[in-house]
Amino acid sequence: MTNKVLFLPGDGIGPDIIAQTERVLRRADESFSLGLEFDEAKVGGAAIDATGVPLPDDTMAKAREADGILLGAVGGPKWDALDMAVRPEKGLLGLRSGLGLFGNLRPAFLYPQLAEASSLKPEVVSGLDILIVRELTGGIYFGEPRGIQTREDGEREGFNTYRYSESEIRRIGRVAFESARQRNKKVCSIDKANVLEVTVLWREVMEELAKDYPDVELSHMYVDNAAMQLVRAPKQFDVIVTGNMFGDILSDEAAMLTGSIGMLPSAALNESKQGMYEPCHGSAPDIAGQDLANPLATILSGAMMLRYSLGYEQAADAIEKAVSDVLDQGLRTPDIHFEGTRKVGTNEMGEAVLAALD
Ligand code: NAI
Ligand code: MG
Repeated sequence: MTNKVLFLPGDGIGPDIIAQTERVLRRADESFSLGLEFDEAKVGGAAIDATGVPLPDDTMAKAREADGILLGAVGGPKWDALDMAVRPEKGLLGLRSGLGLFGNLRPAFLYPQLAEASSLKPEVVSGLDILIVRELTGGIYFGEPRGIQTREDGEREGFNTYRYSESEIRRIGRVAFESARQRNKKVCSIDKANVLEVTVLWREVMEELAKDYPDVELSHMYVDNAAMQLVRAPKQFDVIVTGNMFGDILSDEAAMLTGSIGMLPSAALNESKQGMYEPCHGSAPDIAGQDLANPLATILSGAMMLRYSLGYEQAADAIEKAVSDVLDQGLRTPDIHFEGTRKVGTNEMGEAVLAALD
C-alpha cells in the first residue's frame, strides 16, 4: 500500500497553509475512500526551537517511511544568525539528498481567472501551461571539488565543479519524457552545449533517450536563449528538462510569468516515486500567523502528491477543480486580490475549497 502521508509544516506561514491542506486532504480521503494514513513531524525552525537541529532523526525516520511528504516552508530572520550547517534550510537539503529526490517538477500554470496578475500581456500568457523538470541532486550545486582556496601567489579563488553522469542525465530525462506523454508530447532540453562539455553529453543522452519515446518530440535550446524565449513566447513550451542550476533560475522565471507566487505547487521525486511536495514560495515571515497567507499552492501540492506518488488521479483532479471553482467565485487572498474580487483570509479560503470539493 502506498498511503502514508507525512505533514512537515515547518515554520513561518508553513503551519497556516499546511492546516488548510490537511483539511482538504482529509476530506478527499473520506470522499474517495482512499485509506490514507496521516502523520506529522517537525523540520526547519520549528525543529530547531524544539530540538536544536533542523532535521531531527525522528523526522528523517518518518520521512523514509512516508509515500508522500507535504512540506510547508522553512526559514526566517529568527534563525538567520545561526551557522549555515544548522539553519532551517539545511533541513530541506537534508530531506532532498537523504531521500534521493532528484526529479523536481515545477509547473507554471496561469489560471485564466488570474490573468491580470501576470506582468506580461494577456495574449502572451493566457493559456500558459508549462512543466519544468529540474534535476535536483546533482550538477554544479553538488560537484566536488569545491571551495575557496588561496593560491601560491596569494590570490584567493573560488571554484565549483559541474558534472553529470550518463545515468543521472538518463533518469531525469525519463521523468521529462514520461511527463510529456501525459501532456502535449513535447520536450525541450535546455543546455549550454556550445560552451560546456557536460551539457554536450547531456544533449547526446537526451537524443538517445528520445528513441524510446517516438511519440514525444524532442528539441534543444541554449539556456540564454531559453531565458529570452520564456518571456517572449512562453507558450511554445510544454515540458522543459534541464540541470540543477539552469532549472533553479528558469523555474523562478517561469513561475513569475503567472504573477502569483502563492499559486504554484512543486514536487521532488525519487526513483521509487516517493515524493516531497511543497509550494514554490518561502515561509513569508512577514505575514505568518495572521490569516493572510494564500494556501492554494500548498493545496495544489497536495493534489500533485495524490497524482504522482499515491496514484489517485481522480482525487487530484477533484482538488484542482475545487481550487479553480473558488477562483471562479471571486475569492482571493491578499496576494492575488484585485478590484472586483472578494478578499478572504487563509482559513476562509481553505473552507471554500472544502465546500467546492463537496
Ligand atoms: P517568500 O516566498 O517567503 O516571500 C516573498 C514575498 O511573497 C513576501 O512578501 C511574502 O509575504 C509573499 N508570499 C510568499 N508566500 C506567500 C503566500 N502563500 N501567500 C501570500 N504571500 C506570500 O520569500 P523570501 O521573503 O525571500 O524568504 C523568506 C524566508 O523563506 C527566508 O528565510 C527563506 O530562506 C525562506 N525560503 C524557504 C523556502 C522553502 O521553504 N522551500 C523557499 C524560499 C525561501
Ligand atoms: Mg530558487
